[in-house]
Amino acid sequence: MKGIVFTEFLDLVEEKFGLEMVDKIIYQSELASEGIYTSVGTYSFSEMLQLVTNLSDNTGISTDNLLLVYAEHFFGMIERSYPGLLATYKDPIEMLASIENHIHVEVQKIYPEAELPTFVVEEKTENSLTMVYKSSRAMHHFGLGLMNKTFEHFNTEASIVLEKIKEDGTEVRFIVNKK
Ligand code: HEM
Repeated sequence: MKGIVFTEFLDLVEEKFGLEMVDKIIYQSELASEGIYTSVGTYSFSEMLQLVTNLSDNTGISTDNLLLVYAEHFFGMIERSYPGLLATYKDPIEMLASIENHIHVEVQKIYPEAELPTFVVEEKTENSLTMVYKSSRAMHHFGLGLMNKTFEHFNTEASIVLEKIKEDGTEVRFIVNKK
């Protein structure tokens, strides 16, 4: 997992819960990096899993909700760092349907070591999209947060329903309907 994911996460934890919480979750986790991340480095996903799990245990907020809020914050970084990539799109459904074949392809060029999910589009109309998320990292709520922000970015709203295909969250169907 890319360092930018860790640095943005710890920034948000500091902003919401304070520096003491950042220190606490780093101390409670077994981190090969010792909690020292650079945005261009690459670190084990198990470090992120431990940090999020410990934050959840300390705050009582579910890991899914933490990932959702974190993704909404992460989208701000995307808007600041990749405005050109977002400007390619005029419509949120078009953008979401293009994650697999365009957006994440570009991300993989920028960060060859990035570990990205797979999105398979099952059905697409002008106002709706059904696609299946697959990833061993089960970060579907991170995806949900990015989708929410994608609609906000285009000043539109949508209802997004998640349907777990696999109980462990490694395969999830997103049913998106523009309002
Ligand atoms: C992961 C970039 C749009 C879904 C990531 C990562 C980066 C990234 C850097 C981390 C990879 C790693 O740590 O190895 C971007 C950029 C985007 C974009 C620059 C837009 C310009 C989206 C959108 C979604 C999405 C709209 C909506 C579903 C995900 C998910 C992950 C991820 C779910 C977590 C990894 C996993 O589940 O396996 N993305 N992304 N991305 N992205 Fe994107």
